[in-house]
Amino acid sequence: MKILVLGGTAEARALAGALAGRGTFDVIMSLAGRTLKPRAQGVPTRVGGFGGADGLAAYLRDEKIDALIDATHPYAETISANAARASSETGVPLLALRRPPWQEKPGDHWIAAASVAAAVEALGKAPRRVFLALGRKEIESFAAAPQHTYLVRSVDPVDPPLAVPHAIYLTVRGPFSEADDRALLDRHRIDVIVAKNSGGEASYGKIAAARALHLPVVILERPELPEVPSVETAEDVLVWLDHAVTAAATRGV
Ligand SMILES: NC(=O)c1ccc[n+]([C@@H]2O[C@H](COP(=O)([O-])OP(=O)(O)OC[C@H]3O[C@@H](n4cnc5c(N)ncnc54)[C@H](OP(=O)(O)O)[C@@H]3O)[C@@H](O)[C@H]2O)c1
Repeated sequence: MKILVLGGTAEARALAGALAGRGTFDVIMSLAGRTLKPRAQGVPTRVGGFGGADGLAAYLRDEKIDALIDATHPYAETISANAARASSETGVPLLALRRPPWQEKPGDHWIAAASVAAAVEALGKAPRRVFLALGRKEIESFAAAPQHTYLVRSVDPVDPPLAVPHAIYLTVRGPFSEADDRALLDRHRIDVIVAKNSGGEASYGKIAAARALHLPVVILERPELPEVPSVETAEDVLVWLDHAVTAAATRGV
C-alpha cells in the first residue's frame, strides 16, 4: 500500500517511523515547507503545497496513493479541508490523526479567544509582558497592541520582526519541558501567555508552567475541522490501515 502522510507534527513523524517499521507500507511524508531545516522524517519526503484540493487530488491520482493520512497540526485547517475534498473527489480513503485538545485543570486560568484579534484584545490596554507561543502567521496581529513587551520563540528567525518597540526573540526548536518553560517565564518576568490548544505532550510544558506560576493563558480556540474518520494515536492508524489492507485483499485489489 502506498500511503501519503500529511505531516509537520511530532505525531506525523512518529507515525511515519511506525509505518516504515512494518516494512509493508510504502510511505511518503508531505511537509508544507514552513521551516528552513525540517527534522529528518525517516521516510521519503516531499516539500511544498500541492496547489489546493485539486492539486492534492491530482497528486493522489498521479502517484497512485492508496490511503491518505492527515496528521497535520489541529490549527492547519486549510490543508485538512483540502484533504477531505481531495479524498471525496478521488475515492482515496482518508484518516485524520488528531490530538485531543488539552482540558483546563484546577489551578489553570485560561481565557478563551475565538480569533487572533480576540486574543490581542484579551491582553487589555495596560502594558504586559507576553509570551507569544504562536506561529509566524498569527503573531503579526499583535502589532496592533504595541504597548506590550513580547517574547517570541520560534524554530526559524521571525523575519520581518514584529512591528512593536519591545520584542525579544528566541530561535530554538522544541520540545520544551515544564521546567524549561518555567525557567523561561521566570527569567523574562512574563505575566501572560498566548497559546493554541495544540494537545499532545510536546508543547504542554508552558501550560503546566503557567499553572505552577499562577499565570493566565489566553487560549486560541481550535478551528472547525472537516468531519472525516479520525483517531488519536499512531497505533489506531495502523489498525485502520490493517483493515484497509484486508478489505482491499477481499475485494481482490
Ligand atoms: N498551524 C499551526 O499552528 C501549526 C503548528 C505546527 C506545525 N504546523 C504544520 O505546518 C504546516 C503548515 O501549517 P499551516 O497552518 O500553514 O497550514 P494550512 O493553513 O492548513 O495550509 C496552508 C497551505 O499550506 C500547504 N500545506 C499545509 N500543510 C501541508 C503539508 N503537510 N504538505 C503540503 N502542503 C501543505 C497547502 O498548500 P496548497 O493548498 O498549495 O496545497 C495549504 O493550503 C502543516 O503541515 C502543519 O501540520 C502547523
